[in-house]
Amino acid sequence: MKRSSYCGDVRENSVGKEIVVCGWVHSRRDHGGVIFIDLRDRSGLLQIVFQPKNEFMFKIAENLRSEYVISVKGLVRNRPDNTINSNMSTGNIELVAIELEVLNTSLGLPFEISDYVETSEELRLKYRYLDLRRPNFQKNFVMRHKISNEVRNFLNEEGFLEIETPFLTKSTPEGARDFLVPSRIHSGCFFALPQSPQLFKQILMIAGFDKYYQLAKCFRDEDLRADRQMEFTQIDIEMSFVEQEDVMNLVEKMLARVFKIALNLDIKIPFDRISYEDAMLRYGSDKPDTRFDMEIKDFSKLFKNSEFSVFSSAILKGGIVRGLCIPNGASFSRSEIDGFTKFVNEYGAKGLAWIKITDSGAESNIVKYFKKEEIGTVISELNVNSGDLIVFLADEKKIVEQGLGALRLKIGKERGLIDKNKFNFLWVVDFNLMEWDQKEQKWQALHHPFTAPQNAQSLTKENVYFAKAKAYDVVLNGTELGGGSIRIHENDVQKKILDILGVSDELAKEKFGFLLEALTYGAPPHGGVALGLDRLCALICKEDSIREMIAFPKTQKTIDPLSGAPTSVDAQQLKELGLRLAVVKD
Ligand code: AMO
Ligand code: AMP
Repeated sequence: MKRSSYCGDVRENSVGKEIVVCGWVHSRRDHGGVIFIDLRDRSGLLQIVFQPKNEFMFKIAENLRSEYVISVKGLVRNRPDNTINSNMSTGNIELVAIELEVLNTSLGLPFEISDYVETSEELRLKYRYLDLRRPNFQKNFVMRHKISNEVRNFLNEEGFLEIETPFLTKSTPEGARDFLVPSRIHSGCFFALPQSPQLFKQILMIAGFDKYYQLAKCFRDEDLRADRQMEFTQIDIEMSFVEQEDVMNLVEKMLARVFKIALNLDIKIPFDRISYEDAMLRYGSDKPDTRFDMEIKDFSKLFKNSEFSVFSSAILKGGIVRGLCIPNGASFSRSEIDGFTKFVNEYGAKGLAWIKITDSGAESNIVKYFKKEEIGTVISELNVNSGDLIVFLADEKKIVEQGLGALRLKIGKERGLIDKNKFNFLWVVDFNLMEWDQKEQKWQALHHPFTAPQNAQSLTKENVYFAKAKAYDVVLNGTELGGGSIRIHENDVQKKILDILGVSDELAKEKFGFLLEALTYGAPPHGGVALGLDRLCALICKEDSIREMIAFPKTQKTIDPLSGAPTSVDAQQLKELGLRLAVVKD
């Protein structure tokens, strides 16, 4: 019996026809002498009816169990009116079995194949082949395929070449920890898996390929979160003879195409833009979720000489005071507000000041310290209405930004202020070129050290604090979808940057001397971008975690329960690599 149709594709126009379907027994129901099977393949479900008059076949059907693999020849017929199931795409019809072949049996399942079953992630990943049979996964991977296919179509039409770059290479500077691969032939030496194809794509520009892309696997040894895996895929792009605007336009056009194909949605381009500084001020984040308001305002000037010493002393120490208004927040109880205080404590904040505004005025344990005019200014700046709650943080800038940014998001989510049907794209631009690393007492590149400064000529060690980069991030609904920059193509500028970063000539040569050398052989002006494909797919499929978009992800604890990796290796393998294990204690 050769398959003639997918289960989920059969429709009324096949009524009266004989077809053959193959798939997995999703469910079996015995209805007074008639057996119904929902047969499942990647396209969906089809109801199959086994009637007792074919005794031999009926006996076999009686013994079918969940996830048996069968092939059925049958006649498509309309369902009787009272059995039509409008929740199923094939709910109007059914297949009356003529011939049945059991292709394989299955053991009893560790969990039900259903989108509604709650199972531990560990178990789901151990039996990933069962987990992936769930209808939602089948849908997600069709969508992922559609998205990556459209990305390729678009970039091909725009004249890009897809070129592969190596996995076994040298450390790249994306700022995470490298995965190392020991070399057998060069004992004691290691390859690093690429954190991104950054250096190679720049070298491809120097080689004259002009427009490159790759759906590139990247490897970063970092702590995992819902939107982070140690192996993930980037839509990696690099272009020659371009400015920032060209790269940004291309990304907008590409995302517009993807959203049209994936969701038949016309997204608005060009996307809104916000400077890094403004994003940190208004949203306390470099990836603002603009689907809801609750913007943060700075009150450092207002409270510079405040009688409330928590505020004035924080400012005196070089810190800031910022606040936001929680609509209808006056109804929060003391213990709920204490909960918010605990929440911001995790970001280093020492407390959370609050004022309830009600019809009878301002209420708070600290209201006595404030002048009427001060409260009036805050109310008007934050557009506060009666029934709202104002909260403030006073501390060093980073703590205030992070604390209020996170609190804004938490309350937005918990109070249902976020419209889940919105897709809010945003460019964050004018990033600082470098940030001061307090611990290491040196400058660090905010993006990577090959990012071009906005004013390369006037840049010095003294004014680097104010320097902005030709860098841009594309943000969607509060997730950093991608980032890129115009690169430095002149060796002298690159040297200046490395000098400010405190990277010695020797270290630069050792780490990425091959790129620096390539820059001296006629490097064209170039720039690019990389978008997280897993994140893009998760946002389109409205999944909270990219693990729902990756066939074989690692768990939060960085293991793969399916294969059991990582595992120890045998002594012979280590010997061949010239390695000996030692337990190193810090
Ligand atoms: P960046 O490090 O910002 O830039 O990465 C680009 C995008 O890749 C995605 N991403 C991840 N997705 C899943 N798991 C991870 N661990 C992870 N890390 C990053 C994000 C991110 O925006 N070479 C530069 C790009 C360039 O300058 O062209 C780079 O890799 O969506
Ligand atoms: P205290 O003077 O410590 O009793 O604090 C008075 C109020 O100010 C309490 O509600 C604290 O939560 C709040 N508070 C303390 N430190 C800060 C801070 N750094 N920023 C904002 N509010 C604070």
